[in-house]
Parts: sequence; structure tokens; C-alpha cells
Amino acid sequence: MSKLLLSAFVGGILVSAAGWLLWPVPREQERTAAELMDVVMWGREPIGGPFTLIDHNGQRRTDAGFRGKLLLIYFGFTFCSDSCPTDLQAIAGAVDKLGPLGEAVQPLFITVNPELDTPEQLKSYVALFHPRMIGLTGDRKQIRDVTRAYKVYFAKTTPAIRADPSFDHGALVYLVDIDGQYIGFFPPGTPAHRMVEVLRPKLAALTQP
Ligand code: NI
Repeated sequence: MSKLLLSAFVGGILVSAAGWLLWPVPREQERTAAELMDVVMWGREPIGGPFTLIDHNGQRRTDAGFRGKLLLIYFGFTFCSDSCPTDLQAIAGAVDKLGPLGEAVQPLFITVNPELDTPEQLKSYVALFHPRMIGLTGDRKQIRDVTRAYKVYFAKTTPAIRADPSFDHGALVYLVDIDGQYIGFFPPGTPAHRMVEVLRPKLAALTQP
């Protein structure tokens, strides 16, 4: 092996090693999936609260701007090939099945991968599911804050140097009331018709004088 080749080879190893040392990177996610599930399951800590994010049109959005709507909030990332598409389809299906009542529901998709999920990326992604679904991103701190508030587990499952990282992430569908108070969650994989059964009486009560 020539010197040049050898140094390229060693250099390659060093770059890979650096990548593996940096992985898993998201230090902001200090709690394990089990801890967070425990918190959410038993309501041990407050869930939800204020957030400031950027929507898929590049507009700044806060939780306060969604008052008056029942929020269905889902966290994930657009390159996800398993839970995200399934659960987002269920959410969109529920909104449609609710008919006119569904207009009081606002589906939100919040990315855990703000580096790749830019407003433009989110815009084409949420449009695949529902015309009224809003995609939300932000800077790392904004995403860290909102995922902490909702006790969302997420962790990179691929080396940090990969251009298209994959994430393991919590897949609960959070339900937030018209006054911004957290109500509860649908478990991962809840089908649209089951969401409708839960949401319809709630929405019907809202529209009663
Ligand atoms: Ni996903």
C-alpha cells in the first residue's frame, strides 16, 4: 500500500471513529424511553405547555395561537418509514371521519429532526396526509423544549455523521384541549375509528350552546 493510500485509509478510519464517538449525539435526551413512558402513563409530571416553533410555511407559531382547537399532536421525522406514516394516516383519517366536527380538530406534526425537516420538507410531507395538518420545526433548543414538555422519547439510531439519520421515537398521539390543557394520549397504532369514538362526544359537547 502506498503512503498516500495508507494515509487515506487511516484518515477514513479516524473520520468513522469520530462519527461513532459522537454517536449517540442527542445529549438533550437524557431520560430513557422507560422513564418517560412511566411519567406519561401515570401522569407523574405535568405534560405539555407553552411552545414556540416554526410552521411549514416558515411562520412562527405558539401554543397560544391554537386556542379554541382540539389539538392532536404527533412527534416524529419525515424520513421515518414505520410509525410516523401509519399514525399520521390514522390522525388524518380521524379528522375526516369526524366530518364537520373535525373542523375543531387541529392535527400537528412536530419533528424531532429539525436539521433535515425544514419548513419546505415538512410542507410537502404533511400534505401527503391531510390538507389541514401543520408541520412544525424549529431550532434545536425549541425542539428540545417542546419534546421535554411532552415527555417525548427520541434518540438517533444511526451514526451522527449519516446524512439521513434515523430515530427511535415515542409514538403517542397527544390530545390537548381548546384551552391548551393536556387531556391524554392515544397509544401508538390507534386506528382512526377508535380516535373518532373518543373524540366525537368531546367535540359534540364543545359545540353545544
Ligand atoms: Ni416515526
